[in-house]
Amino acid sequence: MLEASMKLHTDIERILIDAETIQRRIDELATQVDADYADVDELLLVGILKGAFIFMADLTRRLHVPHVVDFMALSTYGPGVEASGAVRIVMDLRQSIAGRHVLIVEDIVDTGLTLDYLYHTLESRRMASLRSCALLSKADQRKVEVHINYLGFEIPDVWVVGYGLDYADRHRTLPYIGVLRAEVYR
Ligand code: IMP
Repeated sequence: MLEASMKLHTDIERILIDAETIQRRIDELATQVDADYADVDELLLVGILKGAFIFMADLTRRLHVPHVVDFMALSTYGPGVEASGAVRIVMDLRQSIAGRHVLIVEDIVDTGLTLDYLYHTLESRRMASLRSCALLSKADQRKVEVHINYLGFEIPDVWVVGYGLDYADRHRTLPYIGVLRAEVYR
């Protein structure tokens, strides 16, 4: 494996999920999605930026069901507000989703506030169906209950980076999911 020959980045305490395990799980998720949407003319996958960009690329390239992709960007902080928990849309979809089958693709569900906001915001757009797919979930951190239709891995309450996930915009392109050293963010 590539990462076996690379020295672990000094900000990373340990690898939580290695690249091979991630890829195997995405194979399984794609198989599930293909089966569930087998009778659908077209699926619209909505990736949530920036964290989901790598997961979205790997998942969509394994799908056989006809599909198109679009992206949204959300922010959890209002301007000048520190970690208020308020979610807002920074970049909306470029197309109407009325009558379409929509699958939200998220990197990680933590408090659940982002996914909950998305469900409520998109609800009024009269879609044929709305489901969610998340690579990771930290169930212990939930502030609101949200249903995830397709989930890669349940993980403990640690800050993870890699495979699209960041800390201060860094480490997104690591091929694995790694636990960030506490000294880095304390
Ligand atoms: P939620 O609204 O609290 O569920 O958080 C969702 C967003 O928080 C994710 O899309 C990530 O951008 C970010 N996030 C939460 N936990 C982590 C983590 O451990 N590493 C990187 N980003 C995280």
